[in-house]
Amino acid sequence: MYWRTALVILAFLTHAITEMRVTGQTLDVCATCHPNATCEEKVDGTGKACNCMYGFVGNGRTYCQDKNECQIGANKICGQHTACHNTYGSFYCTCLAGYSPSNNMAIFIPNDGTRCQDINECRVQGICGEGGKCTNMQGYFNCLCQVGYQVHNGAEPFHPHQDKALCKAIDCGQPPSALNAVQLSATGTHYGSVAKFGCSEGFFWKSGENSSVCGAESVWKGPSLVCEEIRCGDPPILPHTGQVWNGSTNPGSTVLFYCKEGFHREGGGNISYCTENGFWTKATLSCKEIMCGGPPILPHTGQVWNGSTNPGSTVLFYCKEGFHRERGGDISQCTKDGNWTKATLSCKAIDCGQPPLALNAVQLSATGTHYGSVAKFGCSEGFFWKSGENSSVCGAESVWKGPSLVCEATCGPAPALANTEVVLQNTSVVFHRCLEGFHSWRGRNTSVCDITGKWQAATMRCREIKPAISDLVVFNEKCLRWKADKYEEDTENYRVVFVGFRAYQRSFHDKRKKLLSSTSDHPEICLNLLPVTNYTISITALSARFTSTLTTNTSLQVPQAPEILYREIEAPLPTLWLRRSANTLDPISFYQVFVLPLEGTLVFDCSSLNTPDFSSQRKPHGQYITAQLHLRDIGNEINLTLGDGHYYGGFYNAPLQNGRDYYIILRAVSQWGGAFKHSCVIWAKVRDISYIMKVSSLFAGGSIGVFALAIFLGHCYTWFCKKT
Ligand SMILES: *[C@@H]1O[C@H](CO)[C@@H](O)[C@H](O)[C@H]1NC(C)=O
Ligand SMILES: *[C@@H]1O[C@H](CO)[C@@H](O)[C@H](O)[C@H]1NC(C)=O
Ligand SMILES: *[C@@H]1O[C@H](CO)[C@@H](O)[C@H](O)[C@H]1NC(C)=O
Ligand SMILES: *[C@@H]1O[C@H](CO)[C@@H](O)[C@H](O)[C@H]1NC(C)=O
Ligand SMILES: *[C@@H]1O[C@H](CO)[C@@H](O)[C@H](O)[C@H]1NC(C)=O
Ligand SMILES: *[C@@H]1O[C@H](CO)[C@@H](O)[C@H](O)[C@H]1NC(C)=O
Ligand SMILES: *[C@@H]1O[C@H](CO)[C@@H](O)[C@H](O)[C@H]1NC(C)=O
Ligand SMILES: *[C@@H]1O[C@H](CO)[C@@H](O)[C@H](O)[C@H]1NC(C)=O
Ligand SMILES: *[C@@H]1O[C@H](CO)[C@@H](O)[C@H](O)[C@H]1NC(C)=O
Ligand SMILES: *[C@@H]1O[C@H](CO)[C@@H](O)[C@H](O)[C@H]1NC(C)=O
Ligand SMILES: *[C@@H]1O[C@H](CO)[C@@H](O)[C@H](O)[C@H]1NC(C)=O
Ligand SMILES: *[C@@H]1O[C@H](CO)[C@@H](O)[C@H](O)[C@H]1NC(C)=O
Repeated sequence: MYWRTALVILAFLTHAITEMRVTGQTLDVCATCHPNATCEEKVDGTGKACNCMYGFVGNGRTYCQDKNECQIGANKICGQHTACHNTYGSFYCTCLAGYSPSNNMAIFIPNDGTRCQDINECRVQGICGEGGKCTNMQGYFNCLCQVGYQVHNGAEPFHPHQDKALCKAIDCGQPPSALNAVQLSATGTHYGSVAKFGCSEGFFWKSGENSSVCGAESVWKGPSLVCEEIRCGDPPILPHTGQVWNGSTNPGSTVLFYCKEGFHREGGGNISYCTENGFWTKATLSCKEIMCGGPPILPHTGQVWNGSTNPGSTVLFYCKEGFHRERGGDISQCTKDGNWTKATLSCKAIDCGQPPLALNAVQLSATGTHYGSVAKFGCSEGFFWKSGENSSVCGAESVWKGPSLVCEATCGPAPALANTEVVLQNTSVVFHRCLEGFHSWRGRNTSVCDITGKWQAATMRCREIKPAISDLVVFNEKCLRWKADKYEEDTENYRVVFVGFRAYQRSFHDKRKKLLSSTSDHPEICLNLLPVTNYTISITALSARFTSTLTTNTSLQVPQAPEILYREIEAPLPTLWLRRSANTLDPISFYQVFVLPLEGTLVFDCSSLNTPDFSSQRKPHGQYITAQLHLRDIGNEINLTLGDGHYYGGFYNAPLQNGRDYYIILRAVSQWGGAFKHSCVIWAKVRDISYIMKVSSLFAGGSIGVFALAIFLGHCYTWFCKKT
């Protein structure tokens, strides 16, 4: 720039010289001018003169020396904030560093209006670097750090191009921790960041600042908060209450209030909590003393009460005078819920009813039947007052008291009879009656006061009532005996009803009746009871209308021996006869005829259940059953021919052998309901000699065991043989 400006000035100067050469042709003066002078018309018009050109000083002819215009000072010649540059024959101005010319040219010459203005370097963005703050000064600038930044590697102010200093953002790092507090929030770690704190759970803020701020020194300031542990202290005390509290005073602890005994809850909450503020919440439980108030009032009653209305107090009710207790409880108690229990006592006005009758007396007057009423009595006609009170009073027990007057008849007191009471009495007649539990069979029941003034006493005799039939017992299985209660020699008629049944024979039913008249005190009767039967026997004393019942059972009897004709006869076909008892109710079931060959000593067991059969005999000489006759097949009598070769009841009636002697034994067997009873008789002896014997009965009791028979010819033991 400077050089271009210089060339322009040179061109201008060349032109001036040319001019001069033109004039020089006419005037020589001008030709002598210094090259660096100009030829100019003199001011006074007297020719021309050489004048050193601008910037030169000299005579204009011989020399024109350069003039140093800058000598006088840049400020004076070029202006403020300039530098003056002298050149040969001229000079120029430039602006000092930090300033810029107003003509925007590199150089300028004075008085062309150009000024040197301060350059605002701060207009250049980021000239101070990040976080820097530019400050423009006259001719220069400097840098400071912005808020939130701090200078590094130097000091402020600094010049970014000359110093190493620079601005760096402030970072306080992690916020500090505070005792018993927690950080709630933080806006960052840079300058001005704020971290907020709150007390930890169970602690409360007591003082100090809750927040911390990142300061200019890269350090957090604060927090200063002081957190103290929350304690609620002792729970509140409410009147008339107890507490359920585990002693903990920390937040969240609870206290349960309850009304003390004798108090009830009127309202309010019964729980208090220890809050985060360190206070117990208000418990509002209100307890009121339990009072039952006045006891209930029951009609016609009085009370025994000490006036206490607290639970447990009692009131005793009683009926007022003139009233008596009809029913209900007479105590009321004040309960824990504040109510009197219900007393149900019901009192009724005393009413004695009609005044009593007095013996031989009449009622003269009565004021009523209520409590305190008085009835007056006087002796009946024919009687005179002997002692006692004439009046009767209705008492508290609803009973007339009195009269106790004793009126005596003219005959004097009625005769006393043992075990009797007087039913009715007038002047002359007394009716007696046996006391309860006594009776009389005979005699007059009146005592009569006769004209002589003497009692004709009643003749009745009252005896203790006993059952007409007692001590009823069975004897000999079929007979009954009892004790009779009746009047002396009276005859009592008895009806005996007996009903028999058999468990093993459903169709069996034996119901019979028997009448008996007896004067005996110990009557007896024997009944034709059937064997092996359960009987229910009722005996009724007909006039006493008394029945006594017993049950008994009968056993299986030894069968009755049939009537037979004992014979000693000769073979071969003796006919034997038997007639059984006419009683069809006998228990005999069947007859068995045994043939006993007579050989040495015979042994025969009547009770043996063994039934030796002829057909099954190995030895021809053994004993055997030759016939079995069922009762149903026999009429009253039967003639059996021994050895006729027929079968009887499945047994073979084998012919008897010649030249042998036999005993023939008849066994009667009773078989009822599983029981067996036997009886045996010797029916015949078969041999040459014969004589007749009638045997009616023999061994009773087949169950006796072994029947040993010793044979003595022509002889019969008296204990089982009976001559006809
Ligand atoms: C005239 O001045 C110029 C500069 O302006 C210079 O170069 C030159 O030598 C001077 N001439 C003489 C004869 O002094
Ligand atoms: C700090 O916080 C608590 C509650 O957390 C508040 O009561 C208290 O006034 C706060 N203190 C300040 C100084 O802000
Ligand atoms: C007391 O009870 C509270 C709850 O109400 C429980 O948190 C606490 O641990 C208990 N303290 C003790 C000492 O039992
Ligand atoms: C406390 O009150 C609640 C309801 O109000 C009740 O159910 C509970 O039985 C009460 N506890 C006591 C001990 O009174
Ligand atoms: C009244 O009697 C009750 C028992 O029934 C007793 O508990 C109470 O103390 C008594 N009160 C007075 C005032 O005597
Ligand atoms: C007590 O008596 C009152 C009034 O008679 C009744 O309303 C209440 O239910 C009773 N309380 C109990 C527990 O019986
Ligand atoms: C009862 O009445 C009789 C007369 O009827 C009289 O003589 C007697 O004194 C009275 N007895 C009493 C105790 O009043
Ligand atoms: C007494 O009673 C008997 C029998 O009832 C009767 O015959 C008699 O006339 C009565 N005598 C009197 C005085 O009433
Ligand atoms: C008295 O005996 C008779 C007959 O003997 C009878 O009718 C009457 O009921 C008996 N009276 C009393 C009170 O027993
Ligand atoms: C009698 O009765 C008893 C019991 O009921 C029974 O066991 C028994 O067999 C009966 N006897 C007869 C003979 O029916
Ligand atoms: C018969 O009666 C007697 C006594 O009453 C009893 O011991 C016996 O067991 C009875 N027999 C039968 C078969 O019922
Ligand atoms: C049995 O014999 C006798 C005498 O010989 C005779 O009188 C009787 O009628 C006979 N009986 C029968 C049932 O045959």
